[in-house]
Amino acid sequence: ENKSLTIAIDGPASSGKSTVAKKIAAELDLIYVDTGAMYRALTYQALEKNVNIKDQNALVQLLKKTDITFEPNEKGQFVFSNGVDITHDIRDNNVTNTVSVVAAHPEVRKLMVKRQQDMALNNGVVMDGRDIGTVVLPDADLKIFLVASVKERAERRHKENKEKGIFSDMDQLKKDIAERDYKDSTRDSSPLKQAEDAIRIDTTKMTIDEVVNEIKQLIQKI
Ligand code: CDP
Ligand code: CDP
Repeated sequence: ENKSLTIAIDGPASSGKSTVAKKIAAELDLIYVDTGAMYRALTYQALEKNVNIKDQNALVQLLKKTDITFEPNEKGQFVFSNGVDITHDIRDNNVTNTVSVVAAHPEVRKLMVKRQQDMALNNGVVMDGRDIGTVVLPDADLKIFLVASVKERAERRHKENKEKGIFSDMDQLKKDIAERDYKDSTRDSSPLKQAEDAIRIDTTKMTIDEVVNEIKQLIQKI
């Protein structure tokens, strides 16, 4: 009966959405949809093909030609675009620092939202992003809004980068995160905002397992 369960997880960068969503999806045998990866995939393709990221029309044309799919396996969830594995490319700094410009175009969002809603049509899903509870799945069975302090989120990114062998400056990370928060929350078209019926969890002082357990308890109640 999990097949029809829909769970929306929203929140700012590095609040723990994807880590937590993946675990919940695996435990409950639901599909995990990373909507941020979809905006990243389009941004990556635009940068590769020298499409002006301020040109909404050009991005819409590009998106129409760009197939974006997820393929989960033992190693994690892989992202493919027109058959090519772009899982790692979309985490590149060039993409991270420009994706919010691409995601601000209303016509781009319209097409993305439609694709995301189609993915949830006949499937139970855990979907994470910025506008899942407000726009993509307004009737989700459970809506979670994850937050954490900027300092904690910058420290998480720092640690993540270090594990990948990348040195990052803490002050720069804090600045980048605050800037993306600002862009994502102040855009006109479906900004990052907590849905009225979403449950807010402050993960600043919580471990991943603590967050997962809290959400599992909330699922029990629905
Ligand atoms: O993982 P991280 O928090 O860095 O970001 P992400 O979830 O991969 O999303 C990257 C960017 O895509 C966000 O900063 C937003 O600009 C945009 N996004 C969005 O506008 N709407 C969504 N549903 C998901 C992501
Ligand atoms: O998807 P989002 O950008 O919201 O965050 P994430 O990629 O799931 O998490 C960012 C980093 O924070 C990952 O390295 C997680 O392992 C870590 N994390 C943590 O240390 N404690 C939490 N409660 C949640 C995430």
